[in-house]
Amino acid sequence: MQLGTVALTGAAGNIGSVVRKALRAEATRLILLDRVPLRPEADNEEAHTVDLRDQAAVQSALAGADRVLHLGGVPDEAPLPELLDVNVLGTHHVLEAARRTGIDRVVLASSNRVTGFYPVEHVTDPQDPVRPDGLYGVSKAAVEALGRLYSDKFGLSVVCLRIGSFEPAPTEPRHLATWLSPRDAIGFLLAALAAPPAVRFATAYAVSANTRRFWQLPDPAVLDYTPLDNAESHAAAVPGAAHPTAPASPQAGSFALPEFTLRHLNP
Ligand SMILES: NC(=O)c1ccc[n+]([C@@H]2O[C@H](COP(=O)([O-])OP(=O)(O)OC[C@H]3O[C@@H](n4cnc5c(N)ncnc54)[C@H](O)[C@@H]3O)[C@@H](O)[C@H]2O)c1
Repeated sequence: MQLGTVALTGAAGNIGSVVRKALRAEATRLILLDRVPLRPEADNEEAHTVDLRDQAAVQSALAGADRVLHLGGVPDEAPLPELLDVNVLGTHHVLEAARRTGIDRVVLASSNRVTGFYPVEHVTDPQDPVRPDGLYGVSKAAVEALGRLYSDKFGLSVVCLRIGSFEPAPTEPRHLATWLSPRDAIGFLLAALAAPPAVRFATAYAVSANTRRFWQLPDPAVLDYTPLDNAESHAAAVPGAAHPTAPASPQAGSFALPEFTLRHLNP
């Protein structure tokens, strides 16, 4: 895989720290960005302490990159101003840096929570209209829309990955549908960075090959990766796995409950 110089935002995070190790072997140079200070761990790594809200700092750190994997952000429900600042404006800063410096491929971390209100009986396709299950999902819908804009208007190649539940192993019944194993996460993220140049915009779910999944797997012509793991092989260890989920219940599970969002709203 020839990835050239890759910039990785959110490099200190759960997914970032796993994919960092895989990218180190595939990229000529790896530019790490996070607001948390990081140290280079290999000769081809360089680290920048950057707040995604600081446009000039983002642009300066991304200089010289050929591809960007943008994982940095607020990964769950939060007050809307924070989500807009970090997830939406932060992504705008990454896309602007890409436009200005001529970076062609940008991979954006979106989320399954963009469509969390579809019922579990519905096999959701990226072409389905968004149905966010909360404010976080709304912010990721805006992230995808920004990616689409920068692709259509400025010709950037953008791949939005709707990441499933990234966990070492499934621990709750919902994960039996939504689990994304670490090795499948690496597989999908590297495939998105390496997608053919003809891919100018794509949105895809990144999920393991779970028997109970309710999202379509990516088109192999876009993402050349076949997931290897299946949450079902862990079902015996998941409490409640044998209880069927009501077909009309939201894919987001408890994330769809009003309480989940209400605690981030003013009374
Ligand atoms: N983990 C999952 O299951 C999952 C599922 C769907 C989508 N995602 C998305 O994938 C991405 C990575 O998720 P994760 O689980 O690794 O989250 P994480 O919280 O572990 O990592 C996010 C990283 O972003 C950094 N960050 C946050 N605000 C920042 C700012 N203002 N400036 C610079 N850096 C900042 C954090 O320091 C952190 O290292 C996120 O965009 C998240 O929304 C994750």
